[in-house]
Amino acid sequence: INVDWDAVTAEKGGFAHFMLKEIHEQPRAYRDTMLGRIDESGRRIILPDLHLTDEKIRSINNVHIVACGTAFHAGLVGGAVIERLVRIPVMCDVASEYRYRSPLITPDTLVIVVSQSGETADTLAALREAQANGAHVLAITNVVGSSIARDADDVISTLAGPEIAVASTKAYTSQLIAFYLFSLYLAQVRGTQSAEEIAHVIAAMHALPEQVESILANVDAIKAYAEHIAKHEDLFFIGRGLDYAVALEGSLKLKEISYIHSEAYAAGELKHGTLALIEEDVPVIALATQESVLEKTVSNIKEVKARGADVMALTHEEHVTDLLKSVDQAFAIPKTLPILTPALSVVPLQLLAYYASLARGNDVDKPRNLAKSVTVE
Ligand code: AGP
Repeated sequence: INVDWDAVTAEKGGFAHFMLKEIHEQPRAYRDTMLGRIDESGRRIILPDLHLTDEKIRSINNVHIVACGTAFHAGLVGGAVIERLVRIPVMCDVASEYRYRSPLITPDTLVIVVSQSGETADTLAALREAQANGAHVLAITNVVGSSIARDADDVISTLAGPEIAVASTKAYTSQLIAFYLFSLYLAQVRGTQSAEEIAHVIAAMHALPEQVESILANVDAIKAYAEHIAKHEDLFFIGRGLDYAVALEGSLKLKEISYIHSEAYAAGELKHGTLALIEEDVPVIALATQESVLEKTVSNIKEVKARGADVMALTHEEHVTDLLKSVDQAFAIPKTLPILTPALSVVPLQLLAYYASLARGNDVDKPRNLAKSVTVE
């Protein structure tokens, strides 16, 4: 028998790159990360391995979320969700800043560190700084037995499976799932959401894997758009609230593998400086999934359109017709609860980065200057 593929090709399971394979593994990763953490009735979160007692959870008066890169972006979503569901003040910071700025940590601070590899040097140092100040540290990590998993007081493992591509995809979305589970758990213990509301969010979470599958089944339009932006050198992402957090991740993904310069801005900040950079034909990707601020985002879209920007909007089907009055093209993602939207809206942005990198002939899985795990400071 003549076998014309090697072990690496086999590991890619028929996909051209690890990144594409990992993007496609997300529905499975969502299901695995939820498995065993929701009770049979589908109404309650169970986190049996947690050492945090209910009493301790009730005494928490602030939360710090610390991480690097994509894991930090997952933390921004997680922080907003905790504030919304649990009404505890949350501060998010990148580990390389947090560890050196003598953060205000008390024994009633819960510190959450997020790391795919569990080996990132700055995140590990931030964990130690937090523990030295008496905080309980919860790690959300993808590698069982990693330094961060070993040193943390509690661990919620993401069950994304090994992530090989330098650009993180399934680890990020699994971190979001872990944050949703933990936020609901806090809300359950502290009684900040009704049992109905918790069951409602859980039901919507169960629908996410299939919704991601439906995005992955229709990639032609996003691929064509990626080929269009691959010809540009500068690009902007805008959004408000959770859309802004996802914009940051979309921008990082695009930068690291396509080498297109891109910036993510809170849409309302544009007129405080960045608007000066918008000129004829500059691509702007507007995330417009958050209904509560949709009108405001649309007025920001009009501001960039008036300066000649070429605008693509990412939104829900029901807003496409309306948005097309102000943008050049629009992509729809399936409908879910506003807090869960990041778990869907990031997927087209991952694909966008992937296909733009491919169109530019880059090494998708091993972008220049970057390492999968940053163990140096
Ligand atoms: C993600 O695409 C990046 N390669 C990078 O930002 C990464 O998320 C960061 O280095 C943190 O890594 P960690 O999750 O393993 O701690």
